[in-house]
Amino acid sequence: AQAASALREEGKKPVYQDDEYADMDWDNLGFALTPADYMYVMKCSKDGEFTKGELTRFGTIQLSPSAGVLNYGQAIYEGTKAYRKENGKVLLFRPDHNAVRMQLGAERMLMPSPSVDQFVDAVKQTAFANKRWVPPSGKGSLYIRPLLMGTGPVLGLGPAPEYTFIVYASPVGNYFKEGTAALNLFVEEEHARAAPGGSGGVKSITNYAPVLKALSRAKSLGFSDVLYLDSVKKKYLEEASACNVFLVKGRTIVTPATNGTILEGITRKSVMEIAFDQGYQVVEKAVHVNEIMDADEVFCTGTAVGVAPVGTITYQDKRVEYEAGDESVCQKLRSVLVGIQTGSIKDTKGWVTCI
Ligand code: COI
Repeated sequence: AQAASALREEGKKPVYQDDEYADMDWDNLGFALTPADYMYVMKCSKDGEFTKGELTRFGTIQLSPSAGVLNYGQAIYEGTKAYRKENGKVLLFRPDHNAVRMQLGAERMLMPSPSVDQFVDAVKQTAFANKRWVPPSGKGSLYIRPLLMGTGPVLGLGPAPEYTFIVYASPVGNYFKEGTAALNLFVEEEHARAAPGGSGGVKSITNYAPVLKALSRAKSLGFSDVLYLDSVKKKYLEEASACNVFLVKGRTIVTPATNGTILEGITRKSVMEIAFDQGYQVVEKAVHVNEIMDADEVFCTGTAVGVAPVGTITYQDKRVEYEAGDESVCQKLRSVLVGIQTGSIKDTKGWVTCI
């Protein structure tokens, strides 16, 4: 049935039918876990092959206390989203790119990984089984979290003898508590996110706990997120804790070049392509922190974050303000991306898949 017909107007408030939509306050989604009904689980056999996975009810998993993931952090994850079209159908955005990125990450973390087909099939099955948790069109999305981890026991440092691939999902709205309002970022100088030769360029779980200290200090001072600098010169922009960053100056859009310390975001590359199509000059390069001072606009991109405008950046004792209204470059790029993701703009690039 079509989503439009699933909506009954009762006074002004739309009511979603129970069989088609989970019982959820769709108007107030944030970015917190509301587990959808099913998760997908696939184990890797001793010879390094992933065998047929299956859907089970979402729930806890059993792990040895000496599991590789718990002791030595051998795990990577992905994030991708399912969107509801106006007509009720569900669309996935470039899941094959997440699959390839997981393979690259697995190679870096010395783990076997699912094939692209296995990965995409698992994401599709998870989205389909949890369809009632995909928010109504325009209310948010179903965030899908594929996770690959060393679940076999280890004691000495080494790769785990067994691996598990899990895909779970949760309906989400805006990532930041600011909603769609412009973010306030703080340039972090004490802690670095990643170092050359490390794992900053892949979605290793070990990239995330180390940022919590700087992030929580910045949040306690009223900032939305932290911008990290390169760990060597402490002068070049890398990314924020949960997203990539872009600067706009006139018709030029600049983003830090990925060099192994910056995550190659799928939203990042999609936005670069959209900007290029719209005639902007898109430049990937080493971006000196002083260039922030001079930008017209700054925005962030990520699967969880989407395309988010930045209102201010604080670096040392300077606080710079940026343009961030409806007419901003950020909003123009965002509306094209969201339009493609939600099916309101024709996908001429083969980016969306209907499940
Ligand atoms: C995503 O954008 O999907 C991420 O993995 C970032 C995470 C910190 C929520």
